[in-house]
Amino acid sequence: MRALVTGSAGFIGSHVTERLLADGWEVSGVDCFNDNYGREQKRRNLESALAWDAFTFYPVDLSGGDLEDLVAGVDTVFHLAAEPGVRSSWGKRFEYFTRNNVIATQRLLEAVRDYGSCRLVYASSSSIYGDAETLPTPETAVPAPRSPYGVTKLSAEHLCDVYHHNFDVETVSLRYFSVYGPRQRPDMFFHRLIKAVLTDDTVNVFGDGDQTRDFTFVGDVVAATLAAASAPAVGGQAYNIGGGTRVSVNRTIEVVEEILGKPARVNRSAVETGDVRDTGALTSLASRDLAFTPKTGIFDGLALQAEWLDQLAPVTL
Ligand code: UGA
Repeated sequence: MRALVTGSAGFIGSHVTERLLADGWEVSGVDCFNDNYGREQKRRNLESALAWDAFTFYPVDLSGGDLEDLVAGVDTVFHLAAEPGVRSSWGKRFEYFTRNNVIATQRLLEAVRDYGSCRLVYASSSSIYGDAETLPTPETAVPAPRSPYGVTKLSAEHLCDVYHHNFDVETVSLRYFSVYGPRQRPDMFFHRLIKAVLTDDTVNVFGDGDQTRDFTFVGDVVAATLAAASAPAVGGQAYNIGGGTRVSVNRTIEVVEEILGKPARVNRSAVETGDVRDTGALTSLASRDLAFTPKTGIFDGLALQAEWLDQLAPVTL
């Protein structure tokens, strides 16, 4: 089986790539090393994939590069490349979000339609729901993003639907809920929190900390993503992929303190524009069609992330 993984140097993309290689796939990885965080972490994310003969890396920008050869002969495209970040999507940076989320996805869908004959698994986001009226939120909830980032992730999901309905491109959207674990992006809360505790620095909590997220461990996200490649009759569908429980930011601080055996130094500031109060995934559809069951709880998942960050300490902390 041959896969194309976009965003293969990123947090989730690099884990998906490694799992595919371990399962015997031949993998082409694409990444343009966009500047949302340091190249060094992305280069390290790719290190173990590069050791496989079955892996080839292409430093291509999906928003402008030639995609024909990348999609030809591939069985599944795992589209994980994105401009991520809820709070950074305002102002001038919105241009990056439209280019790397909307235009890149449209160009990839065109290439798959014209030169590929494969399924495309799209990494969507819980941010498409905004402040959902129902928790846990079913896929049928009317999407109402609260950030420009969420708007671009939803646009790209709609583009997948449009290419599915008009051209039979087999697309599947996975709405990931706040993913964490080893290699998490440096702008995300757990990365900042663990790093702060390890280095006796202060972590900034936006708002009262009672906001909740359905945090999802990256290993569970990888399992769902691979299942979406092989499950029958999922074309045109969207699935919530969540961790199984809503946990408050304040509670996660206590968990990290317990894991590291040290108190966190916490500063509190105003709620950031674009952040929603709570997220929660109803995952019965993913459970039915993708045999999805989250396996890693918040304590074990955070312990794995802390171990990873601790090992990086001499280099980046
Ligand atoms: C995350 C990812 O960053 C998005 O790329 C993804 O699409 C989204 O999940 C999703 O589920 O759709 P977010 O939930 O904001 O977004 O993840 P974190 O950055 O880990 O933030 C979690 C919570 O911690 C939020 O309430 C945020 O306000 C808070 N936070 C974050 C802080 O209090 N301080 C910080 O320094 C960072």
